[in-house]
Amino acid sequence: MADTANLEIGDQKYSLNLIKGTEQELAVDISKLRKESRVITFDDGYGNTGSCESEITFIDGDKGILRYRGYDIAELAEKSNFLESAYLLLNGNLPSGGELDGFRQRVAGYCDLPAEVLTSIRSQPAGAHPMAVLSSGLQALGGSYPQYGTNDRKKDLESFDESSALIISAVRSLAAAIYKNSLGEDLSSSDPGRTYCENFLSMMFDKPGESTPVPSAVESALDLIFLLHADHEQNCSTSTCRMIASGGANPFASLAGGVSALWGPLHGGANMAVIKMLDEIHESGDDGSRFVESAKQGKSRLMGFGHRVYRNYDPRAKILKNACDQALDALGVSSPILQIARRLEEVALEDPYFIQRKLYPNVDFYSGIILQALGFPTNMFTVLFAIGRTPGWLSHWKEIAENGKKIHRPRQIYQGETLRPYLPVEDR
Ligand SMILES: CC(C)(COP(=O)(O)OP(=O)(O)OC[C@H]1O[C@@H](n2cnc3c(N)ncnc32)[C@H](O)[C@@H]1OP(=O)(O)O)[C@@H](O)C(=O)NCCC(=O)NCCS
Repeated sequence: MADTANLEIGDQKYSLNLIKGTEQELAVDISKLRKESRVITFDDGYGNTGSCESEITFIDGDKGILRYRGYDIAELAEKSNFLESAYLLLNGNLPSGGELDGFRQRVAGYCDLPAEVLTSIRSQPAGAHPMAVLSSGLQALGGSYPQYGTNDRKKDLESFDESSALIISAVRSLAAAIYKNSLGEDLSSSDPGRTYCENFLSMMFDKPGESTPVPSAVESALDLIFLLHADHEQNCSTSTCRMIASGGANPFASLAGGVSALWGPLHGGANMAVIKMLDEIHESGDDGSRFVESAKQGKSRLMGFGHRVYRNYDPRAKILKNACDQALDALGVSSPILQIARRLEEVALEDPYFIQRKLYPNVDFYSGIILQALGFPTNMFTVLFAIGRTPGWLSHWKEIAENGKKIHRPRQIYQGETLRPYLPVEDR
């Protein structure tokens, strides 16, 4: 295989290096092209642009493969758990027993939020969107731990083991505090002796002073959802975190930006949109066929279907489809919208419109149904996605802080007015 590509622009020839990934992906390195030719590349939406070299997560969207640090997502889903996979993402390898215990204890030690962070959450109106409050809550958290968020890369890297454990722990406490604030209730106290998810569920749903046992099916379903969301290479929110980190900003600031990016309905907001769509179909009495027709005519989108990278079944959706059945069985919940989701999937997977465009269910298609069965209100779904994605965002922050040399700064093709003279207001 050649290690260069040739480009001709007019009568000029340029030799461009090829970069080969460990999974044999090839990229044309155009980093010097503008300097040599004054020409830039154009890739609206970055669908064909490698923005970095990364060692964290591998996706083959055509084959439906997702791996964290080389481990297949299905194997991790079966054998690992959220905190262990978080350690893997952050550190590159699975932890020894001692390392895992140490990490768990460090995370558990940070589950109580500083008083001023709680005050900042309580100062927000009950109707404020949880994602807005989560983003500002992360910045407030950074304000309470200025020693971990100095914007001095070397110092922030030195304290990263602490700050990453703090953020992974506190993001779930923030989520519970935000939910309680929306109900006008106080946050239940945390119990560092319980597992990550048990503790979170108790903070979310127990009244202050209560400590209700969490059924293992509930805990494991939530843990699985967090694990499956933990990283997904250069998606919109992760790229946002990396962009912010490239300017030297600390982990709290970078993740606050990631949360904002995740909020949009085409990204993390899709899990809420799926439930809204399924509820609408249920209320209309349709079996989903009318909705599929309207999506085919471009009048709506089948939420939870399609993906920028996967042109195959999203491997996370496959795992969640099975988990959905098991979790609902274990909880004794019968969900009419699950029947609709299954039917929609069947219809879409046999329809030429979806087949030709390679549109398959994505991770959001079934996750919302499980979260609803677990008792989470719909407007918290994207916050739960953010809790799961936190280790991934942090791993990317670390990768930039360790290796990133340049601030990220794309170029553009300017299509606006050319130079024109300023006219005084009375002459316009
Ligand atoms: C995820 C998503 C934004 C990816 O977008 P993309 O890669 O840019 O794909 P495009 O928007 O270019 O779509 C390609 C074609 O498929 C169609 N399409 C894509 N997703 C569709 C959906 N969910 N329902 C119906 N049609 C869809 C588009 O209309 C387009 O059709 P056309 O070629 O006739 O114009 C898109 O599939 C989507 O909006 N899905 C629903 C939201 C969702 O579930 N998001 C969560 C992602 S994890």
